Amino acid sequence: MKTQVAIIGAGPSGLLLGQLLLRLGIPNVILEAKSAAHVLGRIRAGVLEQGTADLLREAGAGERMDREGHVHEGITLAFDGRQQRIDLKRLSGGKSMLVYGQTEVTRDLMAQREAAGGMTIYEAQDVQPRGFLGDRPRIDFMREGEHFTLECVYIAGCDGFHGVCRQSVPAAALRCFERVYPFGWLGILSRTPPASPELIYANHERGFALCSMRSDMLSRYYVQCTLEDKVADWSDERFWEELKRRLPPAVATTLVTGPSIEKSIAPLRSFVAEPMKFGRLFLAGDAAHIVPPTGAKGLNLAASDVRTLYQVLKIRYGQGREDVLDRYSDTCLRRIWKAERFSWWMTSLLHRLDDDPFSRRIQLADLDYYTGSVAGRTTIAENYVGLPYEEIT
Ligand code: APR
Ligand code: PHB
Repeated sequence: MKTQVAIIGAGPSGLLLGQLLLRLGIPNVILEAKSAAHVLGRIRAGVLEQGTADLLREAGAGERMDREGHVHEGITLAFDGRQQRIDLKRLSGGKSMLVYGQTEVTRDLMAQREAAGGMTIYEAQDVQPRGFLGDRPRIDFMREGEHFTLECVYIAGCDGFHGVCRQSVPAAALRCFERVYPFGWLGILSRTPPASPELIYANHERGFALCSMRSDMLSRYYVQCTLEDKVADWSDERFWEELKRRLPPAVATTLVTGPSIEKSIAPLRSFVAEPMKFGRLFLAGDAAHIVPPTGAKGLNLAASDVRTLYQVLKIRYGQGREDVLDRYSDTCLRRIWKAERFSWWMTSLLHRLDDDPFSRRIQLADLDYYTGSVAGRTTIAENYVGLPYEEIT
């Protein structure tokens, strides 16, 4: 088998890249370890930056998103008995967010790929990228007990945090930066109307809470939990009770509760691998970096890597220039580190970090300071809606 760009991973990064490249006429094949149904079964965040939404439109996957997604022009920070709205649109010069689930983004990209005749090999086992430090990269893999080799010109490692691509790079060529937080998020999805028309991020002395949503009748809520907590420890009743205790009373009293249709615990981590290009292998999305979900940046950062890789490959194939390939990593990392900083800061600002009353006072002062001035609110807004992209020419 032969192609131009072999993409490992059919998450949002791999599917989006594949679709953008197909539209340019650049052949690509996606290899995915799991089944399509398994990929679609994962519930993840659902807040898209305007730049992410624009890229999905460019990939031809924006139609249902524009029909069913909800534009959000603000978020609320709740703390110390107060609710402070951050007017994202006004403070960012007109930008907003689109609430549309990552699962739906993935579904739309899969449908587009199928319609365009793009090849995706699901349930590929023992996927091994090889030869990418030389000029004849290839991928070995197994499918239904048979061995295959996919020859290619470039490899895009879009295989997530636990994928094989980053692990295939010689250890000496890679530098990793990591912070693991001493708490997790317990999330539930319920067929209930959202607690509020906009997202509420709540700092409470019992721990963080978040009210989010997928649609008018589908809500997503999170509470900070310990790393020892198990889903089985949290009945729906316990979850709703804890959530209500952490929300502003006015929101808690009108909150509509119901049975959970999904419940899961996720640890929080910040992680960056540098660089993101190794010969002919490019890492993109969660394969290269992780952010804690507090700033809603995970999917959006993945999309901005894909945007940069798309631009670079467009120039490479359109103009024959190879020099541009070396700009991929630094261009991505400049934006990634700023999003890492914002996600880490939002996490530190809103969670119960320890039992030290000093930490809590500093947090409340930080919240009061940032939300108390236009400059502070602007800083939050411009990071939340997504910092500008660097164009590659
Ligand atoms: N071979 C083939 N596929 C693999 C392998 C492998 N060895 N390892 C992992 N994969 C697949 C996974 O099954 C998954 O479908 O790669 C895909 C990676 O997808 P994601 O983890 O969703 O990563 P990405 O596409 O970069 O999306 C980033 O997803 O995890 C969230 O917070 C993150 O929202 C962000 C977005
Ligand atoms: C979500 O809706 O799942 C969500 C929203 C905002 C976040 C994180 C998760 O910051």
